[in-house]
Formats: sequence, C-alpha cells, structure tokens
Amino acid sequence: MTKPRIFIPHRIAESALALLGERCTLDYRDIEEKLDDAAFFAGLEQADGLMIYSRHKISADVLDRAPRLRIVSNIAVGYDNLDLNELTARGIMATNTPDVLTETTADLTFALLMAAARRIPEADRYVKDGRWNEWLPSLMLGKDVHGAVIGIVGMGRIGEAVARRAKGFGMRILYHNRTRKEEAERSLGAEYAGLDDLLRRSDYVVVMTPLTPETTGLIGERELAFMKPDAILINTSRGRVVDEQALIHALSERRIAGAGLDVYAVEPVSRDNPLLSMPNVVTLPHIGSATRETRENMALKAARNMLAGLFGERPENLLNP
Ligand code: DGY
Repeated sequence: MTKPRIFIPHRIAESALALLGERCTLDYRDIEEKLDDAAFFAGLEQADGLMIYSRHKISADVLDRAPRLRIVSNIAVGYDNLDLNELTARGIMATNTPDVLTETTADLTFALLMAAARRIPEADRYVKDGRWNEWLPSLMLGKDVHGAVIGIVGMGRIGEAVARRAKGFGMRILYHNRTRKEEAERSLGAEYAGLDDLLRRSDYVVVMTPLTPETTGLIGERELAFMKPDAILINTSRGRVVDEQALIHALSERRIAGAGLDVYAVEPVSRDNPLLSMPNVVTLPHIGSATRETRENMALKAARNMLAGLFGERPENLLNP
C-alpha cells in the first residue's frame, strides 16, 4: 500500500517529524521562512495531508490546487486562516491544537499586561540608552496590577487561565462570554458582565476571543469610548478583533492609557504603523505560544491529528461540523 504523503512546508519539532515519518512519506522543508508560492503549490498538488502554521491562508483558490488533499492540520489553536466551510464542502478535514498552548499563552498575556502596566520595555530602554542619571521619585510611574479590575473578553480556555493568574494577583475578575462560566464564577470569583459594563469598570481589558465574523471589530470606536482614561487594553488573540484604527485614535488622543499587543490587523505589522512609535504601547511579534516545550507539543498534537485523519480515525481536534 502506498503511504500517504504529507506536505510540511516549514520546520517542525523533530519528535513530530519522526512520528509522521513512521507511517507516511514526508515532503518536508526544514526552513523557518514561508515558502514562496510556486514551491508551496508544487508541494500541495501532491499532498494527501498538509501541516501548516496559521500564517498560511487556506481559501477556495488554494484548495483548487490541492486535488488529493484529505486533511489540513493547523499547528495553532486559532483557525481563522482556514476557510472551514470550503474545506467541509470538499470533504477535507481540518484540525487545530487546543489545550497544549493554554497555559503558555496565558503566561504571555499576563507578562504583556504587567509589561504595559509597569512600563518594562520603556524602562529597559531608558537604562540601556544611558539615560538613567539619578533616581527620581516619579521615574517610570506605572499602574498597579494587584487589586485592580481585569475584564476578560472571551472566557475560553485561555481566558480562564488568565483569570487564574489574575486571582493570584488579587485582582477583581470580570468576564464577558457567549455563555456563563459557572465553575469560573465559583472557583475564581469571576463576575459575568455585559461587554459595555465590563469596559466601563475594568482597569485592564484583555481580549481573548477567537476571530470569527461575529468578533471582527468587536472592540471599536464605541467600545473604546467606554474604557476608563487610565485603562490598558491587552490583545493576544487576533488583531482584527480590535478595530486597529480606532485603537490608534483612542491611544493618540489619550482616551485610554496604553496597550499591550501581540497581534495586529496585518502581520507582520507594518514598520510605519503608528502603534510602533507610541511609548505607551508594548508590541510583541505574535509569540503567545512561543516556548520550546509548547511549540513541540503543538507539533506533536498536530501530527497525531494528521495520522488519525489519514488512517481512518476521527482526529481528536477535528474542526469540521
Ligand atoms: C494560535 O495558536 O492560534 C497562535 O496564535 C498561533 O497562531
């Protein structure tokens, strides 16, 4: 029997590669950069399985170039890069990698919140630039995290993991979600709030929703106007959940105090994006799940999903309805 052929257009953890190699033929590119279109489509044309990071968009046009494809295994929890309807209509499975990155992404979210609150990158630059000549009573004054109100928009797995960290910091936790999370209310003391109410009351608004048609632009001009002038917005989910132009206006007019961003409307963020020149904005290059351990676990999970799909089992993280 011919082995199924898997196209992996970029580097993944060796352990995942070894697992796939036991049962499949691999078309593997050991590179970090995104493959050029011609090479990508050449690989895709022969592939029974495709394993990708979310920087690859899988649309109907792309699928037209994939006559043998049976499964797309996304090495990410977010899957807004996949046209799931189109994949389903063509009978192609799609999978993602939830759970294994929950705690890591929550760590990063909290790090970003603290970095923005206590102006860590600005202070680091100040010292390294040789500008620290004297201890001053109001040097780099930030905003307290302990005892403050955190408002989590999107109380999924990662939202709850952020809430657990917030509880450890003695924060008051508000959350907004499609459904009530009674267990989180009991164990973390989290309080459900309508979105407008959450925005009005929070010192830190943390955006944690997946990007869907319903959440695109969820935090826009109107919502930002509800936030307190000394509040900070944190986004580690997807850039387009926040209306970036509205955020730029709110920040430049000092209608909110700052932001911590790991994600942007367009990635990589353009060098002339005004957000990059605002000292009250901490910017990261989409590294929520970027630890060695977690990236390996994501690749392993993606590999298991791939093998299940190709060998007639139901993948654990199947996304198709
Ligand atoms: C995820 O897993 O969704 C991360 O944001 C990487 O895309």
